[in-house]
Amino acid sequence: MSGPFSSGRRPLAHAPGAITLHGPEELAAPLAELFVRARSLDPDVLTHGFHVWPARLHPAIAGGLVELLTFAPGATILDPFVGGGTVAIEARVRGHDVIGVDANPLSPLVVRTKARITSADDRAAFHVLLQALTERSFERVRDRRPVIAKLRGEHLSLYGTHTLKELAGLLEEIRGLDAGIDPADREAALVLFSSIVSKVSNRRADTAEEEVRKRIRKGLSTELFVRKGEELLERWADLSRAIQSAPRGPRRLDAITGDARELPRILGPRRVDAVITSPPYGGTYDYAEQHALRLDWLNLPRAQFERSEIGARRHEAPLERWDRELGDSLAAMRAVLRGPASRVALVIGDAQLGHRRVDAHDHVLSLAPKVGLRPVAAASEERQDHLGGPPRREHVIVLAPRPLP
Ligand SMILES: C[S@@+](CC[C@H](N)C(=O)[O-])C[C@H]1O[C@@H](n2cnc3c(N)ncnc32)[C@H](O)[C@@H]1O
Repeated sequence: MSGPFSSGRRPLAHAPGAITLHGPEELAAPLAELFVRARSLDPDVLTHGFHVWPARLHPAIAGGLVELLTFAPGATILDPFVGGGTVAIEARVRGHDVIGVDANPLSPLVVRTKARITSADDRAAFHVLLQALTERSFERVRDRRPVIAKLRGEHLSLYGTHTLKELAGLLEEIRGLDAGIDPADREAALVLFSSIVSKVSNRRADTAEEEVRKRIRKGLSTELFVRKGEELLERWADLSRAIQSAPRGPRRLDAITGDARELPRILGPRRVDAVITSPPYGGTYDYAEQHALRLDWLNLPRAQFERSEIGARRHEAPLERWDRELGDSLAAMRAVLRGPASRVALVIGDAQLGHRRVDAHDHVLSLAPKVGLRPVAAASEERQDHLGGPPRREHVIVLAPRPLP
């Protein structure tokens, strides 16, 4: 093969971007092509860029996998680590039913808001709601209305006094919305709120603990809220156009808080045609910690999420733990596949367990036979390590069911 690909299992050229194929070339080359396409395509189209989510999947990879793994619209696609909903959006646009599961209780709110289908009337109604919330929030700021922010001490100290009051007041207005309001609008307002709380804090960046002094003037939080609301309305319009023109129109979306290792219990009798997912990369992120501020503001439970998060960096996990977590997740995915034509596609990076680097492709292939899965094909791309270590590989791995051992 020519171009950026190096085929087979030859040693990699140590240059970020080199791609290796595994398995039959006719099946692996289209997977490699997804990496190549993602380099030049905008990751923020439709509603994708709306709410930050660490390690968000590139929509071109998610959408490409949906196309490669499903033969007709109306399939059921499961993402058991759905996060901010990239797979859910791409599957909906292509006319499929989607089930999204994530241990983070914020995820279903974000997924339902980002993948929501809205009519022009829905958007007009949300615009009116946005204006009303904004006016009331500005009024509160002007009148210096007292309000208490119900946050943990370590989060209270991330804000200046007037910003804290402004945010708490805005949240009180959202929570106090009329009982008659569309629940999806209330949820969208909460997601909007979630999208600004870190920006107006003293955190340097959304996913960084490091603090800096920011000058946040009175009224800025409310202005940001309305600006994000207008951005969401535009993105919704784009998404709805894309979904309405999908073959067979809009389909079902279920977004659920849960542990990916418990899929058979969560799904009950439902079965899926494809699992398309990006699980945590072992020892790389701390999703529960990165979302702690948002969960605190929205009063969403964190303890269960902390307990069930797999691959967390804070666990400083030995290989045995990561092995068990990933193996149990694969077994759960296998258990909910509909039949022999169903497929599992994983987008996963190498694990970093303390000082130990674990090749995720080799790891998945060693676990697959134990849970009734066999490799179909894969492609691996070399990436720079954001933690500063030697390059790591990211893999797209397709697996098929085989009789359980
Ligand atoms: C790589 S991110 C997924 C990002 C997603 N593909 C997107 O584009 O937004 C991995 C996700 O796994 C979730 N997670 C971690 N442990 C989990 C578990 N045991 N069950 C379900 N989700 C879990 C995290 O909350 C995080 O959202």
